[in-house]
Amino acid sequence: METNSFVLKGDVCYNISKDLFDLRPLGYVVCVNGHSAGVYDNGSLPEQYTALPLIDCGHQLIVPGLNDIHVHAPQYGFRGIAMDLELLDWLNTYTFPEEKRYAELAYAENGYSIFAEDLQHSFTTRAVIFATMHVPATELLMDKLEATGLKTYVGKVNMDRNSPDYLTDGSAEQSLSATRKWLSEVESKHYVNTFPILTPRFTPTCSDELMKGLGEIKAELGLPVQSHLSENLSEIDWVKGLCPWSTCYGQTYEHFGLLGSARTIMAHCNYSTNEEIEILKKTDTYVAHCPQSNAFLSSGIAPIRRYLQEGMNVGLGTDVAGGASINMFRAVADAVACSKLRWRCVDQNLAPLTIQEAFYLATIGGGSFFGRVGSFAKGFDFDALVLDDSGIRSPRELNIAQRLERFCYLADEGGKLTAKYVAGRQIQL
Ligand code: GUN
Ligand code: FE
Repeated sequence: METNSFVLKGDVCYNISKDLFDLRPLGYVVCVNGHSAGVYDNGSLPEQYTALPLIDCGHQLIVPGLNDIHVHAPQYGFRGIAMDLELLDWLNTYTFPEEKRYAELAYAENGYSIFAEDLQHSFTTRAVIFATMHVPATELLMDKLEATGLKTYVGKVNMDRNSPDYLTDGSAEQSLSATRKWLSEVESKHYVNTFPILTPRFTPTCSDELMKGLGEIKAELGLPVQSHLSENLSEIDWVKGLCPWSTCYGQTYEHFGLLGSARTIMAHCNYSTNEEIEILKKTDTYVAHCPQSNAFLSSGIAPIRRYLQEGMNVGLGTDVAGGASINMFRAVADAVACSKLRWRCVDQNLAPLTIQEAFYLATIGGGSFFGRVGSFAKGFDFDALVLDDSGIRSPRELNIAQRLERFCYLADEGGKLTAKYVAGRQIQL
């Protein structure tokens, strides 16, 4: 799959700001060496691009790729079942026993093949992924993701306390040395699509000594970090007890240098206090908003409107298997729905998200974690989806914005992904 230069023609739609779509009926999107060279109206393709191969997509929708910035690959095998418990009981009852199976490479081979294949065929172009604590299985996952052509960050999970005997790194020292071994093995593979990200599971399962050591590795190697933050009320209480020196949960990461200076993603942030929000802002931390997981695990509803007003970095995550579906269009619709419930039931000062804002989160919001990603504006990496929505039937004539909105809600009811590009390379579907 060579990077190349070409022109896509179709019904183009992408965000030019948080709350505005640029709509181009039968417009052109130009890809030159993997980057967007801009969007042009029907009949107005600049002379310099007329010699490029033109791929006519008819009246299909052409939109930027979607970025899932929080998903657990080893939990894919029990997605859509075991939804009857809240976070901490759900982890102990269903999640940890499933993740234990990835100690066995034969199980990992099967589970991660399914995950990588399904992600390849999904609406996701880039993802930030938790593996398990097991180094060989994590490398296997990275090998498989590398072959998909999608751009991903993958983390070997660190956990050295409050974890079952069958799923623990044992000690901070062992966890850190396993992490260094993993990083050096990954470096020698010279992946071009797949990158490591430090992944302390969350404060309850990571001792201060482990957090300190991960902060040192981060400072030494400049690696990004991902974890969970302020997802569930019992979890937050537990962190207060475990870290009596802290004044908020976010500080338990910041204290060890795990926020700021390199890119960091904290999943959820459903109950972040003013102090915690200040820390997230000061450190440019990304909030991975996971609306479906927050609903299914009864965790809460993040105040995403506030985070946008505060100018924070926010993207969307499916958080499989807390969320059941890897369909990122569903995540967009769920972000709108949850914001409405929050507005109605919690705080009428924070207006619900619009479809434009929710689509922004899935494209540029999370995409910016990877660089210039999530838009068709000139210079952005060329990530695109071509969508056939003719099977979502209606007697109505809809405009492009309405068709994209409908696709977010009804992708699974007649919508088809017919082509997918990441950094200008076409992904096999
Ligand atoms: N917090 C710690 N581990 C997890 C996990 O696997 N899923 C979710 N949703 N939250 C977590
Ligand atoms: Fe998660």
